[in-house]
Amino acid sequence: MRNVIVAANWKMHTTPADAGELARTIGARSRTPGVLRVICPPFVCLAAVRDALVGPDVVAADGNGVAVGAQNVHHEAAGAYTGEVAATMLVGLASWVIVGHSERRRDAAETDDLIGRKLRAARAAGLRAILCVGEQLDERQAGRAESVVERQLGGALAGTDPGLFSMTDAQAAAASAVGPWLTIAYEPVWAIGTGLTARGSDAAAMATAIRVTLARLGFPDAGEGVPVLYGGSVTSASIDEFLAEPAIDGALVGGASLKPDEMAGIVARAGLTAAARRAQAGIVAGPTN
Ligand code: PGA
Repeated sequence: MRNVIVAANWKMHTTPADAGELARTIGARSRTPGVLRVICPPFVCLAAVRDALVGPDVVAADGNGVAVGAQNVHHEAAGAYTGEVAATMLVGLASWVIVGHSERRRDAAETDDLIGRKLRAARAAGLRAILCVGEQLDERQAGRAESVVERQLGGALAGTDPGLFSMTDAQAAAASAVGPWLTIAYEPVWAIGTGLTARGSDAAAMATAIRVTLARLGFPDAGEGVPVLYGGSVTSASIDEFLAEPAIDGALVGGASLKPDEMAGIVARAGLTAAARRAQAGIVAGPTN
């Protein structure tokens, strides 16, 4: 059974002075069991957010706290790269990292090859990666959305041993609490920050295409173990359409993730999906404390 994940991408918002309180408020108001929650603040706010998320008031009934993620990572381990942050530097501050966000593809000219190197650097440091893919509007209108995403995945994952992302049985058992090594976020670029969203059915079709590509790349279980999130103008009002799709495992949330009410609503709805999946799989709810 795949994890249900709600990840918050705070982008270039918050400061070390206010990020901790926002994270704690979100954590305390989103304690729905069954959902992996991840908050990805700017680099300079990672320590404040980490420290704010220690303590019982953000822990859900299944014992899960809120994980911290970075929004980017450099592909090299160290070196003369002014202003950059290596994966090993994030250890202890973050356990997740977003890789290949479309804003970085656009603003920092990140290529699929570079993104693949970042993925491998993240994995080597023990960080769980959220790999973002998605087409531009003209590409969707031209009927090329799936081929664009397939190319992005192939470019980033080519030359990467899929075994890097597979888990031992013990790790898989623990994954319900800590998450898998690789999660894909399907984020159509035209839906990010625009108030437009994809249709749930289109996002689900893309999730299926993503898993077909993962299977072709040699991922075990035909990519069925890899969570696929939807991202792009997700709010508490729009999330249900995506969670209704069995192929979609949660959301990467931008603008709405800075609003505790919105995050509480999104995680609560994701919790319903998680509970329905557990019921379908015949799994009794985990320990409560
Ligand atoms: P948005 O951003 O929810 O503000 O559209 C999503 C993202 O960029 O991850």
